[in-house]
Amino acid sequence: MEQRDQWATKLGLILAMAGNAIGLGNFWRFPYQLASNGGGAFMIPYFIALLFLGIPVMWIEWTTGRYGGKYGHGTIGPMFYLMARESLKPKTALIFGIIGGMLAFSVASLLSSYYYQVIGWSAAYTYYSLTGAYFGKDTVQFFLDYVANTKAVIFFWGLTMVLLGIAVGQGVSKGIERWVKVMMPLLYVFAILLVIRALTLGSPVKPEWSAIKGLEYIWKPDFQTLSQNFFKISLAAAGQIFFTLSLGMGIIHNYASYLGPEDDVALSGLATVSLNEFAEVILGGSLAIPIAFAYLGPEQAIKGGVGLAYMALPNVFANMPAGQIFGAMWFLLLWFAGFTSAIATYNYLVAMLEEDIHLERKIGTWAVWVFLFILGLPVALDSSLAYLSELDMWVGSYFLVLLGLFDVIVAVWLFKPDNFWEELHKGAYINVPGWFKPIMVFIAPLFMIILLAGNTWDYIQMGAFSVSESYVTNVLGYDYTPEVISLITRARIVIFIILIIGAIEAY
Ligand code: PHE
Ligand code: NA
Repeated sequence: MEQRDQWATKLGLILAMAGNAIGLGNFWRFPYQLASNGGGAFMIPYFIALLFLGIPVMWIEWTTGRYGGKYGHGTIGPMFYLMARESLKPKTALIFGIIGGMLAFSVASLLSSYYYQVIGWSAAYTYYSLTGAYFGKDTVQFFLDYVANTKAVIFFWGLTMVLLGIAVGQGVSKGIERWVKVMMPLLYVFAILLVIRALTLGSPVKPEWSAIKGLEYIWKPDFQTLSQNFFKISLAAAGQIFFTLSLGMGIIHNYASYLGPEDDVALSGLATVSLNEFAEVILGGSLAIPIAFAYLGPEQAIKGGVGLAYMALPNVFANMPAGQIFGAMWFLLLWFAGFTSAIATYNYLVAMLEEDIHLERKIGTWAVWVFLFILGLPVALDSSLAYLSELDMWVGSYFLVLLGLFDVIVAVWLFKPDNFWEELHKGAYINVPGWFKPIMVFIAPLFMIILLAGNTWDYIQMGAFSVSESYVTNVLGYDYTPEVISLITRARIVIFIILIIGAIEAY
């Protein structure tokens, strides 16, 4: 058997995993989740979910991935099959392989189809910051005009995809690892410079507004707001933990499959969580919201929503000394963050072709490129962003959590808790405290079942199944017009088709 690609260095592996986890989730999604869920109220369930859900599932995925890699597999289908065999007949184990493989394929393709768009916006905005294109303009209108400008959207998205293709085509140790070794340190440097800038921002508009007030909003525990909206806020917090740690996507498994069979996963998994959380709560938390507090005031900052990063902040940069530079730094930071995550979903799809049908990596890479381009095109062409929102809803609220639940069922229950615990500790640099075992066996899966039920309840409440006039999920807050409804229907059809292709593939 030919030698499977492996991470060349420990540092490279850790940076790649950090790059995988640290993404737009940290700098774009986290601030608006925080703002729309009561700031200090959100942080309480957020840390609870980190401990009881995030950390244990991270360990499970690293362990599963390394196990699959030992058998030459970097995708979920074969991994789940191999592990489920421990307590099931091969035929029954195959069912778990198929379900898992199908979900992971769907997540990797659907997530890429809209997430790459947002990375493309960041590329465009880096350029527009440098040229000062939005300076002195209405930045909300500027954004709406941008997403309606099909040529520009496709250009910046396509450019991003070409670079992704080059990186992934070079392979794991010679491509991905080299790219992240440059991008991740730069990302931290940019983020730290921006944080210093943000926290020294007095308000030029009103003396009582300041960045520090924004920090207070985040860090002052607010039990009262939490108790009033307990369920909604907790669901959002747990969902964010899943998204930000790249759980339930198959991509942590995939990266871990390029480890040697005796390489540590316990400490490395924890390191991934720590690096991501530092980038999220410390760096991500000190940027968008405090900046918006200083320049736009508390009310606008909290209302900013999804548009905070692309619609509200440009307005700030336009009015700041050296705003062209800081603006470009902010959007390039977003681009790096998104790029090093996107590499992972891309690599997942290439690994599938490489391992399952023995396609050469270079060919597989460009085949996946064409596939992702076709899948992303309707998203790029939809300036209402309804298509994007619907995809995000399905992937973010259902598929991730469902795949996470299967992670536990297969890697802990079917593989058997004692085997799992032993596998987790093979070559481990640390001992995982014993009380994590019951958390992995019972509490984490229970958490996920509640999450799934809660998300379904929410979706029904929004009128999702009746698609009424009042149903507004669109990130831009549009009301639903017939065209938008037809886009949503199309999004659902695409999701369904992808699921079927996934099932065939996994089989
Ligand atoms: N963890 C990533 C983030 O925070 C999520 C992600 C990974 C999204 C890979 C897309 C592709 O943004
Ligand atoms: Na993240």
